[in-house]
Amino acid sequence: MNEKTIIEDYKQQEKTEILKRSSEQLIEAVNSLLSKMTLAEKVGQMYQAAHFGAELVGPSVDNIDTVDLIKQGRVGSILSMSDKTMLYKLQKLAVEESRLRIPLLYAYDVVHGYKTIFPISLGLACTWDETIVKKTSEVAATEAARSGIHMTFAPMLDVVKDPRWGRVMESFGEDHYLGSVYAKAYVEGFQKDSLTSRNAVAACAKHFIGYGLSEAGREYNTVDLSEMKLRQEYLPPFKAAIDAGVASVMSAFNVVGGIPATGNKYLLRNLLKDELSYKGMVISDYDSSGEMIHHKTARDLKEVAEKSLIAGLDMEMVTKSYVKHLEIIVDESPYLMPYVDDSVRRILTLKYNLGLFDDPYKGLTDHSEDYTLTEEHRKIAYEAAVKSIVLLENDGVLPLSQTQTVGLIGPFVQSNEVNGAWSALGNHQDTVTLAEGFKEDTFVCCQGCSVLGDDLISESDLAVAMADVDVIVLAIGEDENMSGEGASRAFLDLPGRQNELIEMVSKLNKPCVTVVFSGRPLDLRLLKEHSNALVQGWFLGSESGYALADVLKGVVAPSGRLSMSMPYCVGQVPVYYNQLPTGRPVPKNNSTHRFSSRYIDIPNEPLYAFGHGLTYTIFEYSHFTTTATRLTTNENVLVRLKVTNSGEVTATETVQLYIEASYHSVSRPVKELKMFKQVRLKPGEHEIVEFDVGYETLCHIDEKLISSASAGCYMIHIGKSSSDIVFTKEIVLEVT
Ligand code: BGC
Repeated sequence: MNEKTIIEDYKQQEKTEILKRSSEQLIEAVNSLLSKMTLAEKVGQMYQAAHFGAELVGPSVDNIDTVDLIKQGRVGSILSMSDKTMLYKLQKLAVEESRLRIPLLYAYDVVHGYKTIFPISLGLACTWDETIVKKTSEVAATEAARSGIHMTFAPMLDVVKDPRWGRVMESFGEDHYLGSVYAKAYVEGFQKDSLTSRNAVAACAKHFIGYGLSEAGREYNTVDLSEMKLRQEYLPPFKAAIDAGVASVMSAFNVVGGIPATGNKYLLRNLLKDELSYKGMVISDYDSSGEMIHHKTARDLKEVAEKSLIAGLDMEMVTKSYVKHLEIIVDESPYLMPYVDDSVRRILTLKYNLGLFDDPYKGLTDHSEDYTLTEEHRKIAYEAAVKSIVLLENDGVLPLSQTQTVGLIGPFVQSNEVNGAWSALGNHQDTVTLAEGFKEDTFVCCQGCSVLGDDLISESDLAVAMADVDVIVLAIGEDENMSGEGASRAFLDLPGRQNELIEMVSKLNKPCVTVVFSGRPLDLRLLKEHSNALVQGWFLGSESGYALADVLKGVVAPSGRLSMSMPYCVGQVPVYYNQLPTGRPVPKNNSTHRFSSRYIDIPNEPLYAFGHGLTYTIFEYSHFTTTATRLTTNENVLVRLKVTNSGEVTATETVQLYIEASYHSVSRPVKELKMFKQVRLKPGEHEIVEFDVGYETLCHIDEKLISSASAGCYMIHIGKSSSDIVFTKEIVLEVT
């Protein structure tokens, strides 16, 4: 068959009905299939092959002929392939030529959009709005599923505190509570009501666990994670994803307690599968099982296979330790057979749940163009982008007025390279630039310099170009490839000659609004000094330019709140709001006390704290009350306040509730975000915001590794950010 006839062939394929099976029917179908499988076929299901033409890297990857393996029924899944003709061809091989006709599972990294690109996750996390976050993953799922993809490797649920690590862009930031809220939203959005839906993809919670703690922010570096921290901070987002029914979990590259996560029986089998009753599939990260050889905890690939199986790893990504050695291992140690069966059951259950046994060509027979980059999807991308923008500073220069002539300066003014890393099939041509966002206005443009290069406009040329402008919008930042996987940085400054451009712009003596494009918090001191307003623009995806221009012009007021602290400088990282108290706090009346926990050259506080974000109106908090000042383990205290928009524009406020415990068996953070609420108010409007504080709200892992709250005093803080606390009230917990 040539390429053309194949395309015709799949377009003419009749869609077969996808059945919704009861759990009994599902178990029966899976068991019946399992009973017909040879050990080689079972092991085959546990292998995810790399996409064709992939450049294979890693200690244990090589090219086995995947086509032959598929025909033998010895491939379960394929990674990162999106070409529909190929997807169709290989599926046809699997379901027509392999003995048991088990369909392949196609997996792809759909992290923040498939064709329509949404803001990077760290930006989306600044919305503090799980509804819009869920909408973005719903759209991403529809676009991917209608293109033949069955599973996405997202959401990434690593809690992150070190902006040097390039993958902070993929995460929901430094707080596990916020991360847990998004974990649920993302999984529900991807998986819709049921995986049988033609618009759903299976989600994958990754990377289990602790990858966000890579030492010194260096990619793939080692991790040291205590059991207390694991349970208090790193596990909750995964728990939220599991509670939301996440279909798969990916093991991490790093070690936990000295044992690589992928071969870690305590993590995968005892904690995840047994304690958390997780019923889905566990997949390795890219050759993370093989990397046990580099970690020096496995001598060879055979030991990798044995350790991974015992640990509870169901499917290997790219590595072939299972394919090559598992049959021999199980022959030698038949007691391991139930482990293989358990893994294969999980994989087959996922395939049945997705409807692949009913319609293996699910998504491939659709006219994908009808489902991707639609006007409706772009609207959601616009809303998500607007809500992700964080206004860090504003002396009143924003919003811009319509009568002003705007000077757009900087390498990001006319750049559409603002999708960010992990942009799946997003095309730069489909992304709106900042200049396009200003197309209805009076403006002049000047690139000034490139992001990375050595070029720089002269002072005189810049002055001439900007002679007639009233206000400058300076669009600068990191290249979009400077964050993401394998993009750790030691410095958090602007690359190329952008700092010089900033200095030149400031000499123009015109009001300056700076927009920062980046996949991580950068050191913004210089920008703060030279800007009248400072806007964190992340990488906002397809609708970037429209969203930014509308926020700058005041068409819509900004509402984003930081999901990660912005450090004062790189020497301060990791800096995050929920740090533990020190035994040597800085005395209030002696801020330079030598033997206190501080730097002698910089402040302890970040430049912008977690939760910070400004807008164009004034929100007043008043009438703060609590229904009681004491509570027991089964009583609740209602915390109430009035929020009034006393400014002149409609805007959204995010009211944040933090608690501070005075005592516990383990040291607890100085503040812990426990709840937040958003209100959207017109000028003059008010709303009563309520928080229900109960025993659970006060809990934290204790020395016995159980979640509990000690009797005693708790401060309830109501704030506009983690550092801008408006009201505080002490309540007392009585534990009988
Ligand atoms: C990344 C994963 C990703 C996988 C497949 C790995 O290198 O760590 O997050 O899902 O590749 O693309």
